[in-house]
Amino acid sequence: MIVDLRSDTVTRPTPAMRQAMAEAPVGDDVYGEDPTVTELERRVATLLGHEAGLFVPSGSLGNQLGLRLLVGPGEEIVCDGGAHIARAELGAAAVFSGITFRTWQAERGLLDVDAVERLIAPNAGPYQVSTVAIEVENTHNFGGGTVQPADRLAAVQALAREHGLGLHLDGARLWNAHVATGTPLAELAGGFDTVSVCLSKGLGAPVGSVLVSSAERVAQARVWRKRYGAGMRQVGILAAAGLHALDHHVARLADDHARAARLAAALGADPAAAPTNIVVLDVDDAAAVAAVAAEQGVLVSALGPRLLRLVTHLDVDDDGIDRAVTVLRPHVRG
Ligand SMILES: Cc1ncc(COP(=O)(O)O)c(C=O)c1O
Repeated sequence: MIVDLRSDTVTRPTPAMRQAMAEAPVGDDVYGEDPTVTELERRVATLLGHEAGLFVPSGSLGNQLGLRLLVGPGEEIVCDGGAHIARAELGAAAVFSGITFRTWQAERGLLDVDAVERLIAPNAGPYQVSTVAIEVENTHNFGGGTVQPADRLAAVQALAREHGLGLHLDGARLWNAHVATGTPLAELAGGFDTVSVCLSKGLGAPVGSVLVSSAERVAQARVWRKRYGAGMRQVGILAAAGLHALDHHVARLADDHARAARLAAALGADPAAAPTNIVVLDVDDAAAVAAVAAEQGVLVSALGPRLLRLVTHLDVDDDGIDRAVTVLRPHVRG
């Protein structure tokens, strides 16, 4: 039996989720006629305190549509150096939208509002790139599932307002932040102009993200989604998986968090550094440890020469955690 801790994207739909997918009413969503997609978009928008939502195939597309609505070609967005949009979307913002980035350094991905303030250059004139938006990731993936503190979110929102800057939230794992803190989703997402959330990470759907924003921006995003070739037809069968996940897989994220804390403690990491479902470990040779563990049926990600990432999710139970600890403990410090 393989214990796959590489990512929370590796989950397979449960039998109940497959059943919901099979029974979903569908229509042509490019014509706006898929009732299940429409229901999912409305539901997520309401949950997140926004006017409207748009179902998209991936978190990357949700982010890229959000960015392009806020930032024009030759303008810049600022984010931390470990942000998914900066490191893991393969330059999409530059390729598709002509957007440039500058980044601040963030310990474990934790939002540093003083650093943001030092970095931004709004209305920079004809010789320098003007900052027009700020991006925040919550929870922070490469930072180790870091939850952004409420006071820092409020401060970055005030900073953006003060300078007339747009704010995008990469909320691929916002559900985890919600469950870890008990803060309502609308409170976590409401202060941002555009927000992308994923259904295919901890929530366990096979595919799908939702971009939420004002009705006007979402109407523009719908045009761009089609232009990018991601207008989809009878995708209510996929949206149904998302609706099922919202009904059944949000509260249970607390189990993933408890398992991640147990993994962190057993492997000598500070459990406080694994507040949600991601554990990042510093090892001598990450690729070598990942290879040895894989031979014993435990899959983990080598994110850098010394950095291992372990992610708990729907398809890893307590026995899987025990097995991972047994296999990994000889290879980690602590
Ligand atoms: C924080 C974050 N944002 C965005 C994405 C992109 O999601 P997708 O793989 O669906 O494009 C990921 C993927 O893991 C992520 O971790």
